[in-house]
Amino acid sequence: MAKKNNFSIDRLINGERVEKYDYIITQQDPLSFVTESFQKVIINLDYANVDKNLKVIQFTSTLPSEGKSTFVSNLSYLLGQRGKKVIVIDLDLRKPKMNRVFNAPNKNGLTDYLSGKITLDKAINHSDDLGIDFITAGEKTSAIINVLEAQKLKDLISNLRETYDYVLLDTPPVIAVSDALYISKIADGIIFIVAQGKAKKTVVKDAISSLKNHGVNVIGMVLTQVDLKSSAYGYGQSYSYYSSDEDRDL
Ligand SMILES: Nc1ncnc2c1ncn2[C@@H]1O[C@H](COP(=O)(O)OP(=O)(O)OP(=O)(O)O)[C@@H](O)[C@H]1O
Ligand SMILES: [Mg+2]
Repeated sequence: MAKKNNFSIDRLINGERVEKYDYIITQQDPLSFVTESFQKVIINLDYANVDKNLKVIQFTSTLPSEGKSTFVSNLSYLLGQRGKKVIVIDLDLRKPKMNRVFNAPNKNGLTDYLSGKITLDKAINHSDDLGIDFITAGEKTSAIINVLEAQKLKDLISNLRETYDYVLLDTPPVIAVSDALYISKIADGIIFIVAQGKAKKTVVKDAISSLKNHGVNVIGMVLTQVDLKSSAYGYGQSYSYYSSDEDRDL
């Protein structure tokens, strides 16, 4: 398949920062081992989800820039390709990114719907390119916690459960703000994104323990930005998935 631009897998996996969020590597390089790694994540998710009770899934990390938004966009695309009906909601109201993934303006989004400015029909967009639905964050607000605690948000999620196989929530990291914790109350589980070599192992463990202590279902952990030259991970492990109970060296 023709590439949209000059970005290559090598640049992505070698940890070079790329800011082209509309470059979905699993779409552009379907045969790459990065895509293969994503497929493995989906298989693990399928195993974790035998009872089909993990529908609303939140993605967070310890620190900023560990690869949450990139991960969510690729995973949503591949789930859509597998025939799942998927919607992505940008619940990172501080640093929204889904508008950039879907090449859409960050308006008529979640906050606009919750404040009653627009109807739900208007808030739900469809990406013809990626074959999935999405809701952008919408107009910036300073009342973020109020938004995240709103009954209307809970009702929205319940409503979307009826229509979609997966409702994927892109959210902020846990370390600086409590948003992720509020969001966890409306999610069935969390997938924790860990960029190799970024947060200290103890800090990641503390962050995950703290979520668990709040009764959060941590479904698993995905390791991103793995140094492929490191023998500990080896070829094809640019994304790896572990159950949260496994003790891994990061
Ligand atoms: N697997 C990866 N390998 C290399 N670079 C990556 C990978 N995933 C993401 N990146 C790059 O890392 C940067 C941060 O990615 P992204 O925005 O997805 O992270 P984030 O965790 O959502 O950040 P934030 O906390 O700001 O929301 C971007 O420049 C992105 O292109
Ligand atoms: Mg993000």
